[in-house]
Amino acid sequence: MGKYETPDAVSALVQPHQVHKDTYIDAEIFDLEMKHLFSNTWVFVGHDSQTPKKGDYITTQIGTQPVIMVRHKDDDIKVLYNRCPHKGTKIAIDRAGNTGKFFRCPYHAWSFKTDGCLLAIPLKHTGGVASNLGAFFLTGLPGGLDYILLVLVKQGFMDRMTEKRWCANINVWLRGPSMSIYLFLGFQAWYAQTFLLHWSVLIVVVALHFYNGQYYCEQAVASYAVAAERVKVAKADAKKDDVKKQ
Ligand code: FES
Repeated sequence: MGKYETPDAVSALVQPHQVHKDTYIDAEIFDLEMKHLFSNTWVFVGHDSQTPKKGDYITTQIGTQPVIMVRHKDDDIKVLYNRCPHKGTKIAIDRAGNTGKFFRCPYHAWSFKTDGCLLAIPLKHTGGVASNLGAFFLTGLPGGLDYILLVLVKQGFMDRMTEKRWCANINVWLRGPSMSIYLFLGFQAWYAQTFLLHWSVLIVVVALHFYNGQYYCEQAVASYAVAAERVKVAKADAKKDDVKKQ
């Protein structure tokens, strides 16, 4: 049982002539503040004058939650969680700036309007059973594990942040080193004309890893281009709307 579970115990911290040091340093008091003050009361985030133009934003925190205060296109000010709904990355990194008509997540390029609505998601190439199986078998062991984790998240057996942590481990301990080793073996075979692995095995694993790398490039680069195109179209539409209104 905690020291500060009753209101009396908390009130006793502040006396007319003194304030107990736990008010400032106790973890239990901190948690109580986060739960009862920052989550349940109005919190000052910023002043209107800090975001004078449409698209101007500042980033700050409400308690432990990172937030963005941004001026929307209708001149309203919105306060949004500074967390991408895809995998939780911070969407705005800078303390302040002008984002134009939308935010784009730096991780997989999902974009969001300044009222928080989703604007565009990069093209997905993994629809359908055949392409899902292809993605599983052809991306090699790291890609396959990565893919299993995504399925677990989709089916609700794993939360996104756990998947992200595991994915980082797969990249660091499996994908990175194995690609380096196969590159080394390939270079050694070409340079010294000796095969440490049988040449047919080497060709298969190099091909798998090439596909693995290509698959992720495709996701990151091609998808980025598609999302950018959609954002361009959305911007052009918004411009047309502005002209119509004038
Ligand atoms: S984490 Fe933001 S787009 Fe993937």
